[in-house]
Parts: sequence; structure tokens; C-alpha cells
Amino acid sequence: MGNTTIKVALLGAGNVGSQVARMLTEDAESLQDRIGASVELIGIAVRDTSAKRHYEAAPELYTTDADALIDAADVVIELTGGIEPARTRILRALNAGKSVVSGNKALLAKHGVELAAAAAKSGAQLSYEAAVAGAIPILRPLRDSLAGDQITRVLGIMNGTTNYILDQMDTTGAQFSDALAEAQRLGYAEADPTADIEGHDAASKAAIVASLAFHSDFTIDDVHCEGITSITADDVAAAAADGYVIKLLAVCEKDGEGVNIRVNPTLVPRSHPLASVHGAFNAVFVQAENAGELMFYGPGAGGAPTASAVLGDFVSLARRLVLGGPGIPESSFAQLAATPMNDVVSRYSVGIVVEDKLGVLANIARIFAEHGVSIETMRQAKGTGDGTSASIRIVTHRATDANLRKTMAVVDALDTVRDITSVIRVEG
Ligand code: HSE
Repeated sequence: MGNTTIKVALLGAGNVGSQVARMLTEDAESLQDRIGASVELIGIAVRDTSAKRHYEAAPELYTTDADALIDAADVVIELTGGIEPARTRILRALNAGKSVVSGNKALLAKHGVELAAAAAKSGAQLSYEAAVAGAIPILRPLRDSLAGDQITRVLGIMNGTTNYILDQMDTTGAQFSDALAEAQRLGYAEADPTADIEGHDAASKAAIVASLAFHSDFTIDDVHCEGITSITADDVAAAAADGYVIKLLAVCEKDGEGVNIRVNPTLVPRSHPLASVHGAFNAVFVQAENAGELMFYGPGAGGAPTASAVLGDFVSLARRLVLGGPGIPESSFAQLAATPMNDVVSRYSVGIVVEDKLGVLANIARIFAEHGVSIETMRQAKGTGDGTSASIRIVTHRATDANLRKTMAVVDALDTVRDITSVIRVEG
């Protein structure tokens, strides 16, 4: 880089953007020491220049003209979220050879391949540590520290809102709706919490993690996604009775020649490190052939923690600008395919309410066997109160998703079955 000042354009001044503006302003001196060049925040593109911010930068920095700001910058930090205009703006920067830091998980999970191609073509760097698990360094370890190993599996609690809700249900016995209301009251969940509780936010992160871990180009469309809205206090209590806690896991695992990528509620044994992740914290558990088992833990959201990840990316790419040379392109040589969900193998916990009659359990066990689904444990719990029904819980050995679904369809059609209350995957 010919000059000694790196000009930074910041797009967005929300919760995270404001904290990035603060750090770029207040920490300018130490950033200069770390980078070897001075850093100048030349502007902040926003929709409304008069809006109140968490951190008030110099008023003249705010502008509504994002394109002019991008054109005047060396590096662009995009923290606006959403697909457009973020995609077009990032492409504008990358096509002009300007490196970009983004925290936009939805955009990267949908158009990451296009953005990476634009970066590779112009030699710009595209970095997005803040898009997954907030402050937790996980993308750089996958990309760099573990680059010499073979990753076999990644299990992540990558959404703090849902972890808070499930943790409340586990520790207080709360129903889902009450735990969600509390999460909203505390500011974890949005007014419209759909992306969190339906698993979409975690699914975007899973696509990003799977692409890096398995050197392939996965998108959100490759991720099987189930949220937590159907999890009841009874499910949580039944899991606890069996020594499990229910977590919304993002699972990315090598599966033959493909990769299974899914987000679903999962019964996690209490002894597993992920079981001890409480509140709104995130954690990512990585299994690699040589490193063994690693766990990354910390705050997965919040202005300052997420801004820390943004600044880490910024310092790293700014050092490269000072030294010269192109950015590091994405490694997607393996080009593995996502495994069709029908073929994915897992253990299941199934809750069924049946008529309390002779032969009902035997009949259900027979249907499981006929579909190749082996039962590990079968337990009859107390009835539902009317004296004519029984509540049973079956934990299966490993079975394909297709066989389990066929089994449940036949069981559901039995006259003696009143309700299938839950079907939840079991880890381990
Ligand atoms: N809404 C997310 C969460 C944070 O609850 O973890 C940003 O991805």
C-alpha cells in the first residue's frame, strides 16, 4: 500500500456499528501501533443522519451517500445486515479491490460464493468473523489454525436467544412462551423473534461454518432447519429425567463423501461440554482428526463483543495492506455436497400418548422393528390424568431420518395413538 493512512468506510451505526465507530475513534493510536499505518474513519453511512446512536461519532462523519463513501475508502466495514443494498455495496467495494469486513450472516450464507469470487478476482480480502458466534474466534481457527488438520464435525450453540430460552425452561421449568417473553424483556430476542426461534439465524451460521470447515461452497439452502417453537416444558422435564438437556444445535458433520448440515433441537447428555453453556452464551465444539476435541466459548452477540471480532478482522487485513500482496481467497477445493436429509443417521427421542390398553406398546415396538428402527429404551410414564391413557418415551438407536419418519407416520395412524408429542434428535 502506497500511503500510510488506511481510510475506513463504516456502513451501519446500529448496536455493533456504533461500537466499531467507538473503537476506531478511541483506539486509533493503538491500532496504528498494531497495523503499522494510521487509521482514519472517513465516514459512516446511515439511513437517517439525525438518529440517536449508542456512540456519537463526530457529526460530520454521518452520511446517507454510501456509494461515495465506499469509493473514497481503502477498507469497507459492512454492518447494515440484510441482503440488499448490502450485497451491491460489498460488491462495489470488492470489485474496486477494496477489502471488506462484514458481519452479515444472512448475506454470506446466501451469496458468499459470489462475494468470495469477487474478492478473489480483485485480490481484495473478505473477512467475516463477526457473522458467527459474536466475539468467539471460530472462523479464523477453522480457516487458519486448523488448516492442516481434517475436521470431522462441528457442533455449535450459535444462537444466544434460543439458548437463553431453553436454559430458562431447563432451570426454572418455564413454558416456551414465558421464556421467550423473558428473552424479549431482556433484549435478547427481537420484537419479531422468528429468525432466532425458527432456527434461521443459526442455519445461516451453520452454512458459513460448514463451508470453511469442509472447504466447500454451502449455502443456507443446504441446511436442514428446525426451530424450538414446539419444545414444551414436558419435553425439557423428560429430557432432564433421562440425564439430558435440550439445546438448539447447529451440526456440520462429514458423512461419507458428503456433509450433513442441520440445525435442530437436540438432547445433549449433561456430561457433554455443550450442556454447560448457559444463558445467552454461544459455544462451538469442533472435532478434528488430529487435534481431537476443541471447544470455543463466549458471548455470541452484543455490540462491543461483536465489534471486537470486526476489529480483529480489520487489523488482520490492514496489516496485509501495509505489507502488500493479495487477500487470502476462500479454500473451496473439496466441493463436497450436502447429504440429503433422508439419509442422515441419528438417535431419536420420541414422546407418544397412547390408550392404556393391552398390546399397545408391543404393537408400537413391532412397527419400529418393521421399519429398521431399533429401540434403545422404552419407558412408560404417568398417564395424562384421565386414567385411560399412558405417556411413553422411546429412545432409538441410530436410524435414518427417512426410516424414522416412515415409522412415525404409521404409529401416528394407529387408533390407539392419541398424540405424538415430540420427536427430538439425541446427541451421542
Ligand atoms: N440474534 C442472535 C442471537 C445474535 O440471539 O444469538 C446475532 O446473530
